[in-house]
Amino acid sequence: MFCSRAAYMFSYRGLPGVFGGTLVFSMILLLLGHGKTGSLVAEVARQRRHEVRVLRAADNPHGSALTADNLRHIDLVIDFTTPHAVLENISASVHAAKNMVVGTTGWYGELAHARQLVENSRTGLLFGANFSIGVNLFFDIARTSAAALEHGYYGQIFERHHVHKKDAPSGTAVAIRREVQQASGSELEITSFREGDVVGMHQLVYDSPNDNIYLCHDAKSRRGFAEGAVRAAEWLAGKQGFYDFKDVWRQL
Ligand SMILES: NC(=O)c1ccc[n+]([C@@H]2O[C@H](COP(=O)([O-])OP(=O)(O)OC[C@H]3O[C@@H](n4cnc5c(N)ncnc54)[C@H](OP(=O)(O)O)[C@@H]3O)[C@@H](O)[C@H]2O)c1
Repeated sequence: MFCSRAAYMFSYRGLPGVFGGTLVFSMILLLLGHGKTGSLVAEVARQRRHEVRVLRAADNPHGSALTADNLRHIDLVIDFTTPHAVLENISASVHAAKNMVVGTTGWYGELAHARQLVENSRTGLLFGANFSIGVNLFFDIARTSAAALEHGYYGQIFERHHVHKKDAPSGTAVAIRREVQQASGSELEITSFREGDVVGMHQLVYDSPNDNIYLCHDAKSRRGFAEGAVRAAEWLAGKQGFYDFKDVWRQL
């Protein structure tokens, strides 16, 4: 049986379980956001033997419930709320010296500020535009595919999500654009569609006079996001630093 380094690095509160060959100690997780994704995060976390407590929006205006006293028994905070609420939640959790996994998107203009807060407080924060392993593989594919732009192809990104999604373009589409830009120097246009209950579809399309290339990731459910977020929390336990899921998912 393989026991991950992360699993040894924090003081555990419960009996360990074995998941995918990795020994995981149970934690007390505080979940901010019990909506479409957060409720699945709670389900997956409980299946992996963590204790989950939920804080509702009404009980946490401006992150006010996230005091050091209220969080003293919490091992780690997970945020799947809104772009409007997340920054105050990060600030309060970090001031309470709690590690945090942030799945909420739409706040990445403030990444440098959040990094500073985390580094000053010597806590750990892991964020991710998308916690699905498949999408993180897709980021690598996007980077490789950027070579097309040097060979006469015109590239575009299309993203589709449910009508309730608050940010546009999606954090995942922006991350795909960044991968292509870093590899090619070109910034692709993103077109967003909001329709029905689409979980999340991202297409990277290259067009040339001779042919087209269609690259597509289509999420079937939110469960992949939830599993990635809980495994990210297990990885982050006991660590300091500011991490992007796309840089650590291979270690999970
Ligand atoms: N990184 C990823 O892999 C990934 C995957 C899916 C979604 N997301 C992102 O995750 C976020 C949530 O998405 P969703 O579809 O689950 O949204 P949702 O269904 O609208 O849920 C949002 C939840 O946030 C809660 N909330 C708002 N302010 C809060 C506060 N101050 N404290 C505690 N809870 C608060 C709301 O609580 P009430 O119900 O009490 O108002 C609601 O339950 C979005 O930013 C989305 O883009 C990320």
